[in-house]
Amino acid sequence: MKDIQVGLIGFGNIGAGVVRLLRDNAEIIRSKVGAGIVLKRIADLDITTDRGVSVERGVLTTSVDDIFNDSEISVVIELIGGYEPAKTFVLKAIEKGKHIVTANKALLALHGTDIFAAAVRKGVEVQFEASVGGGIPVLTAIKSNLAANNINSVFGIMNGTCNYILTRMTQEGADFSDVLKTAQELGYAEPDPTFDVEGVDTAHKLAVLVSLCFGTRIDFKDIHTEGISNISGLDVKYAAQFGYRIKLLAIGKHVEGEIEARVHPTMIPLDSPIADINGVFNAIRLTGDFVGPVMFSGRGAGQNPTASAIVGDLVGLSRNMKAGAGRRMSPLGFLDDAIVTIPVKPMAEITSKYMIRFSALDKPGVLGGIAGSLGKHGISIESMVQTAHEVEDSSPVPIVIMTHEAREGSIQKAISEIDQLDIICEKTSFIRIEDNLE
Ligand code: HSE
Repeated sequence: MKDIQVGLIGFGNIGAGVVRLLRDNAEIIRSKVGAGIVLKRIADLDITTDRGVSVERGVLTTSVDDIFNDSEISVVIELIGGYEPAKTFVLKAIEKGKHIVTANKALLALHGTDIFAAAVRKGVEVQFEASVGGGIPVLTAIKSNLAANNINSVFGIMNGTCNYILTRMTQEGADFSDVLKTAQELGYAEPDPTFDVEGVDTAHKLAVLVSLCFGTRIDFKDIHTEGISNISGLDVKYAAQFGYRIKLLAIGKHVEGEIEARVHPTMIPLDSPIADINGVFNAIRLTGDFVGPVMFSGRGAGQNPTASAIVGDLVGLSRNMKAGAGRRMSPLGFLDDAIVTIPVKPMAEITSKYMIRFSALDKPGVLGGIAGSLGKHGISIESMVQTAHEVEDSSPVPIVIMTHEAREGSIQKAISEIDQLDIICEKTSFIRIEDNLE
């Protein structure tokens, strides 16, 4: 069979990994596909920077049209990231009848519906394994191996930058800003880390997962997104004292005709399997009605793992082309007309346990004031810690309360009421607790 000809748009770090993988593992790929996979053209605005891999003369171009207009190229890999011009390029490639492989979660989270609809119209495939969890083969598993299940929940650690920062805060008792600074110096965090540390990257990945797991279209704006920049060393210390670790979790649940889709720092029990996923590693755990809980973990980013997922998609597409199988599966696994819009539960209606940290004066009536407001809003206290000053001192002390299961709306109301009290010295913070992530 003739080799499969591929065009690559975006020759950065990941693109260079794809070039190297296709070269180093050409033999094993050929032995699995029955044909070679050849990068015929690579388009990037910068074709002079040394990417550490050699490409043959004539492969590099600054014009994406060299890819779109090449009728031998049947697959386009999009690796420029972001919303535009990635969306325009992907739609153009689809229009030209080319299959797409992309690692771009931001694009899929916001414009997936348009892209998939265009692909359906043209009868081409869109593969995106690398968009969630880097090298972890979770999306293909959901679409294929777990296709027989109703999936009820999916959650995980999906951002290596945040997990690295939280791990070091936990292990060293360090503060967020100090760890972020060293992470940037070591190249683990981007110079502008906003999308990572504010949870946006994780929310993009959750949008993709929720669609695949529950067969729904989700409006990205409906995903409640909080990052880790407000987590302090004190939060990490108190969480540990109560038997928990703080992780930035993406949580998706499908219960009684509604879904929950939220990203926020979450306290999880120390003995939960996901609590030991440390550093830049990612983990995704989901529960299907027949299979039960399944957990995937591995490297969620980086040149080699991401290239592994991208070339895995290329191999799958090439096998289909070779078998003349056409478009065997819809992009989300569910048939296109079976995808519905399931309402997203408003945050005020979710229920959770909470760790609430107050900063209050150490004087009579303080606990009474706090407990009174919590009680008024139906919030029951499970346990609490107050660290008193050793000698009399008028500076505030932390009061940390663990609640039983409560409605988020009630927690918000109680805290805003408590924050009006004279005895409260700083804005009160809280962290949600997930004891039963199944
Ligand atoms: N920046 C991401 C992370 C990888 O830190 O995990 C790409 O989504």
